Amino acid sequence: MKIIKLKEVDSTNEYAKKLIDEGESNFLVIADKQYRGKGRLGRTWLSKPGGLYFSIVLENKFSYIFPILIPILIIKAIDVDAKIKFPNDIVYKGKKLSGILIEHYKDKIIVGIGINVENDLEGLDVAISLKEIKGEVKKEEIFNNFLNLFLEYYKKLLSGEIREEEILKEYKKLSETIGRYVKLTLPNEEVRGTVFDIDFEGISLATEEGIRKFPIGDVKNLR
Ligand code: BTN
Repeated sequence: MKIIKLKEVDSTNEYAKKLIDEGESNFLVIADKQYRGKGRLGRTWLSKPGGLYFSIVLENKFSYIFPILIPILIIKAIDVDAKIKFPNDIVYKGKKLSGILIEHYKDKIIVGIGINVENDLEGLDVAISLKEIKGEVKKEEIFNNFLNLFLEYYKKLLSGEIREEEILKEYKKLSETIGRYVKLTLPNEEVRGTVFDIDFEGISLATEEGIRKFPIGDVKNLR
């Protein structure tokens, strides 16, 4: 996989789109900082130096697995007792440590990953950095851990050595959402219920009207 390193960029996801337009695929673009970092649902992602900001571009195969697999690999790479908040936020004691923005562009998938390592979070109370949790940390080391894990798992996915059920099982072990009573915000309604399952297609809730299942992409918010 080709790796492109940048000092500064608007957003590595946006930069990835330009390279896709030029016919590139199977690459990773990483930047020291972003001046227009994008979060999910049109939010911004604060991207000061010291954090990890990168995007991986691949063919669309397995795109349904990435929202479930990537957060597992991030937690392994950072080696912290963190949890996954549905769909794929990485949280530590309720504060956000890492986020994933997956976009489909042309026939490719862009997996954008932001990890708070030792970047200044400007006093943002809902976020936390690895440095605050672990003390000394090196972002190069975290990045290498992640990349090695990603390449290993991707190879296993291609060769069929790893089964989807195993990935789901690991995800569920790390989920802080399963079993919780939540309020889901969907495009046209709000639904309350207890989360009893999550899989590649979506999230299942036990609601007053019975069991209901919602596709991952339909969930605008979960509280
Ligand atoms: C979220 O939790 O809202 C997703 C945050 C994703 C941030 C990363 S940083 C690298 C990539 N480029 C972007 O502009 N966003 C993603």
